[in-house]
Amino acid sequence: MVNILDLLKVDSNQTMPDSYKQLTHEEMRERVLKIKKEMGTKLYIPAHHYQKNEVVEFADTTGDSLQLAQECAANKDAEFIIFCGVHFMAETADMLTNEKQTVLLPDLRAGCSLADMANIDQTEIAWDILQETFGDTVIPLTYVNSTAAIKAFVGKNGGATVTSSNAEKMINWALEQKERILFLPDQHLGRNVSHDLGIPLDKMAVWNQMTNEFEFEGNIEDAKIILWKGHCSVHENFTVENVKNMRKDMPGVQVLVHPECPYETVAEADFSGSTSYIIDMIENAPSGSKWAIGTEMNLVQRLMEQHPDKEIVSLNPNLCPCMTMNRIDLPHLLWSLDSIKTKEYKNIIKVDETTTKQSLDALNKMLEHV
Ligand code: 13P
Ligand code: SF4
Repeated sequence: MVNILDLLKVDSNQTMPDSYKQLTHEEMRERVLKIKKEMGTKLYIPAHHYQKNEVVEFADTTGDSLQLAQECAANKDAEFIIFCGVHFMAETADMLTNEKQTVLLPDLRAGCSLADMANIDQTEIAWDILQETFGDTVIPLTYVNSTAAIKAFVGKNGGATVTSSNAEKMINWALEQKERILFLPDQHLGRNVSHDLGIPLDKMAVWNQMTNEFEFEGNIEDAKIILWKGHCSVHENFTVENVKNMRKDMPGVQVLVHPECPYETVAEADFSGSTSYIIDMIENAPSGSKWAIGTEMNLVQRLMEQHPDKEIVSLNPNLCPCMTMNRIDLPHLLWSLDSIKTKEYKNIIKVDETTTKQSLDALNKMLEHV
């Protein structure tokens, strides 16, 4: 059990000492394996599909955002969860676990540029204007790629979180509650999924959080989906031109993209879905089939290694890594584990009680609809 006096020793801003960089890969592996063995089920290491192989090797589970949230919520044994992913995922894990469980993020610089595109002040301004414009007809939904403050705001206002693997269900649910949705912070996921559900593009407005204005042609009263003007800087790099070039250069290729890609790219692709959907599609594809994948490079690279019988390339020939996911590496994982052993915990992710309570209203609605 974590002692509160030990927790007070935390200096969350400390960065990893240089000495870790001097260790060989093998030395680090051995030390990680040793601590994992000693701690047994007291330690849990979930890793997102975008993590590097050197980290995934030590994961107790890998998954997409929804699966990792579900698995953290179900784990009651681990005293320590070292979350190998980005900051919003670790926050979610903290909120879904109990007060006796401690979540650490190996490197605090592992943020998400998409989550950073909506802050709470901007959201409150937007909400006031939406209420003035539409009255009480709007329900907020937020992609889990958002800060805990945004999740709390959404929970407080009757809304829910969504992930790329359950966004359809959640948009349907939301439209049973209210006439309109404010979808934060990824305009592309919101647009792609709403369009798949039959909502025409001319019923979708964009809310520009920098100018505090709608971007919409026509009568704003006709807008059914209000899309926050955010995007993922990795998935924005997959373009219609990439798809066209790929079809020319690789006849018979099937294009498989993540729904964080722009609408025009997804419309040109053959399939789109979450990271788990992408993995399942490739696992179930016949030998010899050809695939161009539009998502983060670590995952594409791993799929290439695991399926040498299939021809797999990145949809964008210029590598598309997520720089923040890549902050988590073997040295940081070891540093995090060492900090548990010495009780000088590094980078604990702890969301305050009120934010947690309000966010759980939003998260639990999502988990109930899986
Ligand atoms: P998934 O939920 O599909 O794993 O996506 C998470 C993410 O950050 C994609 O960029
Ligand atoms: Fe965030 Fe994009 Fe990285 Fe996913 S790929 S963690 S959305 S920046």
